[in-house]
Amino acid sequence: MTRAFPDGFEWGSATAAHQIEGGNWNNDWWQWEHTPGSACIEPSGDACDSWNRWSDDVVAASGLGITSYRFSIEWSRIEPAEGEWSHAAIDHYLALGHALLDAGIEPVVTFHHFSSPRWFADRGGWLQADAPEVFGRFCARAARELAPILRRACTINEPNIVAVMGFLLGMFPPGHTDLDEFHSVSAVFCRAHRVAVDAIRAAAPGVPVGLTLSMTEHQAVDGGEAMLEQTQRMMEDVFLDATAGDDFLGVQTYSRMRVGPNGPLGPEAGSIVLPLGYEYWPQALAATIRRAWEYTGGRVPLLVTENGIGTDDDELRVRYLETALAGVLDCIDDGIDVRGYTYWSLLDNFEWAFGYGPRFGLVAVDRSTFARAPKPSAARYAEIIRAHAL
Ligand code: GCO
Repeated sequence: MTRAFPDGFEWGSATAAHQIEGGNWNNDWWQWEHTPGSACIEPSGDACDSWNRWSDDVVAASGLGITSYRFSIEWSRIEPAEGEWSHAAIDHYLALGHALLDAGIEPVVTFHHFSSPRWFADRGGWLQADAPEVFGRFCARAARELAPILRRACTINEPNIVAVMGFLLGMFPPGHTDLDEFHSVSAVFCRAHRVAVDAIRAAAPGVPVGLTLSMTEHQAVDGGEAMLEQTQRMMEDVFLDATAGDDFLGVQTYSRMRVGPNGPLGPEAGSIVLPLGYEYWPQALAATIRRAWEYTGGRVPLLVTENGIGTDDDELRVRYLETALAGVLDCIDDGIDVRGYTYWSLLDNFEWAFGYGPRFGLVAVDRSTFARAPKPSAARYAEIIRAHAL
């Protein structure tokens, strides 16, 4: 049976600056990668050398037939010191944007994807009271300069993950483990998102702006209902509340989490466990789309801005993709306004503290020549996009 996607449904793939560009030595992540005892297993180094080889990425994106490409701009390159602006960095992203548009691909720009300039981190990072205004100033400037190529804007990528990994679990910079800090930084992120939405709207009128949030299918096990509610409140609802007034909501989902009365239970016996330690669970995408839609009362359209699997088993990637997309179609059949799907990631890239081991790409990248090579899953994704159907 063939199941078609609605007219205008967007097909995308995504990357983030620090994960692909290479040589981003002027941000907090580079510093974290080189901090003895930090959670990072290896430094990002040259990454995919996309700073120089971005036109290869446009070729790879074109090969998929995607209609949008979500990438992030590196704040530490555009504003290398507080108040100093790099015209060359802006020109770089403009050139990428124009090349995408020439290839029939809409640029979707993320203004902050995990990495911050060193000067921002040194003056207190996201814990500073004026962090939203400092970030808002960057957004205003970048949005104004990039307006000619900007087709959709994402403010802060997964603020919930930055808060939990950086301030509660100590896995991301600044490596803190403090529940109070986790809550205060979450509040700062919510305010920073609102400031960024206003700044981008004023600088690039008419460009849809939204938040991209990491979501998980939480399942209560053995009386874990209260813990589940508390987890969802901290990790999702606080941030969903901050999206009122946006133009769209970006749902980003990878797996499920089973929650018992005392917290996460880990993978169920017998399940496939992926390199990042969570289960193969493509059904999570439909579940989180439904939750996002219900929680927000359907006030804005949803876009899947990230979904994917880190694995060396490319057949499993195809199975994951097809199952997740079938779930998207089920949601659309039930009247949920899902406007597009974005596979994470276009390229095998730097998976933060986990280094280069987990491979999420549709396209492999040779670690010494940087040659890009599409995997069979890329061909399957291209086929689905061409058919506009499953
Ligand atoms: C995200 C992460 C991506 C990760 C991906 C796979 O936005 O979720 O930032 O950068 O690479 O999630 O773990």
